[in-house]
Amino acid sequence: MSKFAELHYEGKVYQLPVVEGTEKELALDISKLRDESGFITLDIGYKNTGATKSAVTFLDGEQGILRYRGYPIEQLAEHASFLEVAYLLIYGELPTQAQLATFEREITIHTLVHEDIRKIYDGFPASAHPMAVLASLTCALSTFYPESRTTEGTNLNIIRLLAKMPTLAAWSYKNEMGHPLNYPNNALDYCSNFLHMMFAYPTETYTADPVVVDALNKLLILHADHEQNCSASTVRMVGSSQVGLFASVAAGINALWGPLHGGANQEVIEMLERIKADGGNVKKYVDMAKDKNSNFRLMGFGHRVYKNFDPRARIIKAACDNVLNKLGINDPTLEIAKELEEHALKDDYFVSRKLYPNVDFYSGIIYRAIGIPTEMFTVMFALGRLPGWIAQWKEMTANKEPIGRPRQIYIGAPERNYVPVSERK
Ligand code: ACO
Repeated sequence: MSKFAELHYEGKVYQLPVVEGTEKELALDISKLRDESGFITLDIGYKNTGATKSAVTFLDGEQGILRYRGYPIEQLAEHASFLEVAYLLIYGELPTQAQLATFEREITIHTLVHEDIRKIYDGFPASAHPMAVLASLTCALSTFYPESRTTEGTNLNIIRLLAKMPTLAAWSYKNEMGHPLNYPNNALDYCSNFLHMMFAYPTETYTADPVVVDALNKLLILHADHEQNCSASTVRMVGSSQVGLFASVAAGINALWGPLHGGANQEVIEMLERIKADGGNVKKYVDMAKDKNSNFRLMGFGHRVYKNFDPRARIIKAACDNVLNKLGINDPTLEIAKELEEHALKDDYFVSRKLYPNVDFYSGIIYRAIGIPTEMFTVMFALGRLPGWIAQWKEMTANKEPIGRPRQIYIGAPERNYVPVSERK
């Protein structure tokens, strides 16, 4: 039976249909409210606005639950490969052995990019941030591999994007370093191949440490989707204009770049370096983060939706300890990170505001430990998030969602007449 909530205003009653999700989440459908009452709803930053109905990811921020297509993140991170999770997110079910083998083979044979794309790298300055390069070249893929609206064409572009993104990402780093670019090695799995393109040198053979490959696999899985966050919403919003997959994902990469979203993992390490250079006085920085006049925040702390703990942060913290122990890494910056975490978790300011270390706090530390340069951290996030963006775009397209177009409350000047420049005072 349909349920309704009622809105009473100036003697009139407006009925708002109640929408219930699989996990009993409740929403009020206000899509007809403006037609009936003249009201729009105002929610700056979309803090309490559902933009879509989605079957991709379930997240409960209060209870620290994250599931992809119903599967708990803990189980996927423990047992699955990144490509298995990518398949799950994009196509809705875990692949059979045969489906996974085909998927992996298709991705492997599409890892090369057109040689003319390679030439574009020469046009970027060496100082270019790898996220700017990655976003530009992801969009540029549409000039080499036309966007498609057919199921077959879309599937091919999905494979291309998953296959070529690690190549584009690793090359953006090599370009920045001024090193020769490494071509993909099709004998390697997804994560090992990326590490090969990042770290192999023409003069030596490179074999990725299995501990590093395992940590990378976990990190990519943990970042693979996070429902309607800033970048996924951007991908859906841009895609809703019916622009293609490459252009929509390029927009998502740009959204992810910002320090309040994916850029936080880079900011975490930069903050730790700053504390170290300043004598390692952790308390000073905790106090600064509490001081509203300082404009300083503890990067890697707090989350828009997780208000008790971030389930990904728990898994990643364990992976982080494992990597540091197995690789025998002793890094003073990492000691500062531990001290900072201890201080903040005991401090009433952070406890009362439910500010816990988020996934980015630990991911930055692992990336540093496995040799990924700081400016590549957000690129790593983008590599992980790619299947989620694709799944969100594919779902939005399949559901034929209308073009995204929010409303506003205008607070500018009322109507006034134009004054010629000669008469303006
Ligand atoms: N350090 C110090 N104070 C903080 C922090 C922080 N990292 N985060 C939030 N606060 C404070 C705010 O000043 C505010 O205090 P007040 O109530 O006294 O005004 C309160 O906690 C609530 O903060 P909001 O900004 O309203 O929380 P919101 O949900 O909008 O923001 C965000 C979440 C953006 C993640 C925020 O916590 C932040 O800026 N964190 C640092 C950046 C970061 O780590 N981003 C990565 C997010 S995870 C991801 O994208 C994968």
